[in-house]
Amino acid sequence: VKPDPCGVVIFGASGDLTHRKLVPALFEQFQRRLLPETFFILGCARSELDDQVFRDSFRQYLLSREVTAGAAEEFLKHVYYLSGSYEDNALYKRLSERLTELSEQEWTAGNCLYYLATPPSLYTTIVSGLGLAGLTSQESGRWARVVVEKPFGHDLASSRKLDSALHQWLSEEQIYRIDHYLGKETVQNIFILRFANAIFEPIWNRRYIDHVQITVAETLGVENRAGYYEQAGALRDMFQNHMLEMLSLVAMEPPATFEADRHRDEKVKLLRSIRPFSDNGLGDWLVRGQYAAGAAQEQPLPAYRQEKGVNAESQTETYVAMKVMVDNWRWQGVPFYLRSGKRLAKQVSEIAITFKSVPHSMFGKIAPERLQPNVLTLKIQPEEGIALTMEAKRPGPRMCMSSLTLNFSYRDAFGERSSNAYERLLLDCMVGDQTLFVRHDGAELAWTVLEPVINNWQTSVDNCPLEFYEAGGDGPQGADRLLTNDGRRWRPL
Ligand code: BG6
Repeated sequence: VKPDPCGVVIFGASGDLTHRKLVPALFEQFQRRLLPETFFILGCARSELDDQVFRDSFRQYLLSREVTAGAAEEFLKHVYYLSGSYEDNALYKRLSERLTELSEQEWTAGNCLYYLATPPSLYTTIVSGLGLAGLTSQESGRWARVVVEKPFGHDLASSRKLDSALHQWLSEEQIYRIDHYLGKETVQNIFILRFANAIFEPIWNRRYIDHVQITVAETLGVENRAGYYEQAGALRDMFQNHMLEMLSLVAMEPPATFEADRHRDEKVKLLRSIRPFSDNGLGDWLVRGQYAAGAAQEQPLPAYRQEKGVNAESQTETYVAMKVMVDNWRWQGVPFYLRSGKRLAKQVSEIAITFKSVPHSMFGKIAPERLQPNVLTLKIQPEEGIALTMEAKRPGPRMCMSSLTLNFSYRDAFGERSSNAYERLLLDCMVGDQTLFVRHDGAELAWTVLEPVINNWQTSVDNCPLEFYEAGGDGPQGADRLLTNDGRRWRPL
């Protein structure tokens, strides 16, 4: 579906997200002729710039992407800038005038996508500024949509507050809460794998699945985001959104149709089935860590507490591992182990589903549990693909076996590069498809799941103490205990 003509207004236009992700994603779509026939991009921020200087800030990057200067210039012609203070109502009045002008000049029929790429503390101010200026109204057939970046609040209470502030000016159909993991090809492939193939659903349950591991390991540290990360930590930064989203997709029931609300209804039902964490013995369910000094490729790596902008006694976690139980018919008794951390040995995001061992071994003295269980791995990054391990007979006169892996690689199979998550999600906003966006109840339920943990960490440090792990290593040892207590092991990174 070709999107309607529209303008894209980016608040926070001089920031990192705009330069690294948003404008490059729009440019890729422009190159592939997927953007609407007519469009414009209006950056909005505090810095005093004009259209020309703003365009210049992207030129070098665009030209580094093996494109002709002509294509870059053709795109940049549709890029504009407006400066002002978000707290000042005059900004929204000027914005409204500029949008009327641009809409006529670029033929975009008044449709507008507002992207909040600012610190979250400004979301309410900007949306009420837009509302008061009449820019959130959808009169005479034009549409207005607002994209909200995570974090959606800081805890359950603040996320509810944010939501009611947004809903004062916007209906739920106008709000696009973005979780970029949902835009990744391999994450979307979870639906196709599960629901477009007949062989997986019958075994996708407690009878055949022993446990599931979801890993997002990063080699990067906090980089230059200490201001945000010190307040957030790994639990809020990764689990409230990406990790619980992936868990929902793997574990949810099949929706009857692939419509935004049917699909999101099922995700919400799954989140509701997660067994609540309780203060009692929280340490058996959850481990939090922080990276200490270490090394990678023989280069020393600083401790988190030594990073720029980080408090020297910071208690912020850079790693979390947790065991989650889903209390419903399909998953009763099947643990989902989730782990995510910064400054680990390898960058890997994957979902690994380990099946149960065979019930009986006919191979002499080999006990059933000594046969390697089948593992289906959905590889999200850096390699994108699917792998299935299985036992196979080794060539030769004797009945010897080894494990082998059937591998499907996206790159080998399809050849073309996968689109970047933002490319896909921005287009979805333009066509008005909310399937891959988080609904208000989903965001709220994810906070509800984590709320007992957040409260516990605030009130007691003994229950779930911060463990230090070496930068460049595999994470805190406590995370291993989480599985060894159950007679299982993490997959190697
Ligand atoms: C972001 C987090 O949402 O996701 C970052 O704020 C994290 O801290 C990033 O590094 C990971 O995303 P990706 O796509 O690089 O796996």
